[in-house]
Amino acid sequence: KCAARLMEDKKQPPHVVIFPLPLQGHVNSMLQLAELLALSGLKVTFLNSPHNHNHLPQFADVPARFTKFPGFEFRTVPDGLADDHPRTGRFLLEMLDGMIVKTKPSLRDLLVDINPSVDCIIGDGILGYLLDIGEELEIPVIQFRTISACCLWVYYRIPDLIGAGEIPVGGNEDMDRLIKMVEGMENFLRGRDLPSFCRAKNLEVEGTRVQTFAQETRRSATAHALILNTFEDLEGPILSHIRTKFPKIYTIGPLHAHLRTKLSEKNLVSSDSLNGIREVDRSCISWLDQQAMHSVVYVSFGSIAGLTREQLLEVWYGLVKSKVRFLWVVRPDSVLGHWGDEDVPVELMEGTEERGYLVDWAPQEEVLDHWAVGGFLTHSGWNSTLESVVAGVPMICWPQFADQHVNSRYVSEVWKIGLDMKDFCDRHVVEKLVNDLMEEKREEFVGSARTMAKLAKESVSFGGSSYCNLDSLIEDIKLMSL
Ligand code: UDX
Repeated sequence: KCAARLMEDKKQPPHVVIFPLPLQGHVNSMLQLAELLALSGLKVTFLNSPHNHNHLPQFADVPARFTKFPGFEFRTVPDGLADDHPRTGRFLLEMLDGMIVKTKPSLRDLLVDINPSVDCIIGDGILGYLLDIGEELEIPVIQFRTISACCLWVYYRIPDLIGAGEIPVGGNEDMDRLIKMVEGMENFLRGRDLPSFCRAKNLEVEGTRVQTFAQETRRSATAHALILNTFEDLEGPILSHIRTKFPKIYTIGPLHAHLRTKLSEKNLVSSDSLNGIREVDRSCISWLDQQAMHSVVYVSFGSIAGLTREQLLEVWYGLVKSKVRFLWVVRPDSVLGHWGDEDVPVELMEGTEERGYLVDWAPQEEVLDHWAVGGFLTHSGWNSTLESVVAGVPMICWPQFADQHVNSRYVSEVWKIGLDMKDFCDRHVVEKLVNDLMEEKREEFVGSARTMAKLAKESVSFGGSSYCNLDSLIEDIKLMSL
């Protein structure tokens, strides 16, 4: 109340600058946060790379949904990469290096010049240099992590794991060995569940990434606060460990569901999806409309993961042999190496014509909410996991890299809302797990998936934990502007 009264005197809403790592998964969830803050009356400037702003469909025009917030503004800051750079997760370190050289000074200049002056920076937690800029310009920095709390906690513990010789994992050793040094996970976290870059075979190429993730995560503890896209009923036990190291945490997720709540409170409907790095193919919704209840497994491996030709074929054979209907997102850039229609065996073509539907890019939230969808074969990216949780759809997890290995372990062992296919993707496994999830063992997962969906929705409803935490975050930001 005090902050509200003083703000009335000041007459200017607080000005927040939001800066994500310019990769799709990061941009999307931070845009949802930006929209939530703008809906609460804050002035928000969202910083994006010129590449994203000019090439991603959702930025082609400032989307209609943002024009209803007078205080909302998009600005661009260079990401330091050549225009034709692929900008995928594989080049993350290159991106981070480029950003320190080019982005850091441009961002600093922008923050000095921008009008009205900035009261708070909300920065991607992977970009630790934002803390340096905040310190120099005396602007409080709140960090936002796009990953799960459980993965954040594993990242935090990485230096201890290195010190104890628990990392690297793999080589000749048993990947099922339990990792005992991550408090709260002693009984179920195996070597194979650690982030992908902890594996011996990856360390040569990704060695410095281990250090980067660990350092940036530890640095986050010095930020004014940390925002996580999760909710207390999902990750409460691990959050209590994290809170011993991070003084102030706001759990305000699942953000996509939270945004729906806030838009409907104001009788606003989101008119365009922000989930697209490319044109969404809505024909799959008409296809789903013609299928039976819970009969379809939805398959998607996110926005940046790549599949080898062999992996693609194993998944495809498994789906076709399972006899379950499937909707599969195959991004044209997701197949590594040459791939064309002529490479698809005839039996797969026939099986797909009979029971499958392929698209380049789907309206994923809508797909997961569709009554025909009964399961999700996913790479366990955090946004996809949360979207599946909210929709109450059980998952088969086939994690590819980074945080996804930890997420998939939680899905199967802790939340009991799916199966973990980690490291074992061949056609027989895919066939078996799809049949288990959709039929044989369905009852094991459906109850817990429904319960978790209910808890997720309650957390973002009036009086729920995430709902209240967002209010506290906004109050905190308002106090910064006084
Ligand atoms: C990666 C990480 O795995 C993730 O955990 C981290 O937080 C960000 O970087 P990504 O591979 O993009 O993310 O996966 P995910 O986090 O699941 O995000 C994918 C997004 O794309 C989801 O919001 C999903 O709804 C959307 N999507 C995907 C579509 O809208 N349509 C599709 O066809 C496929």
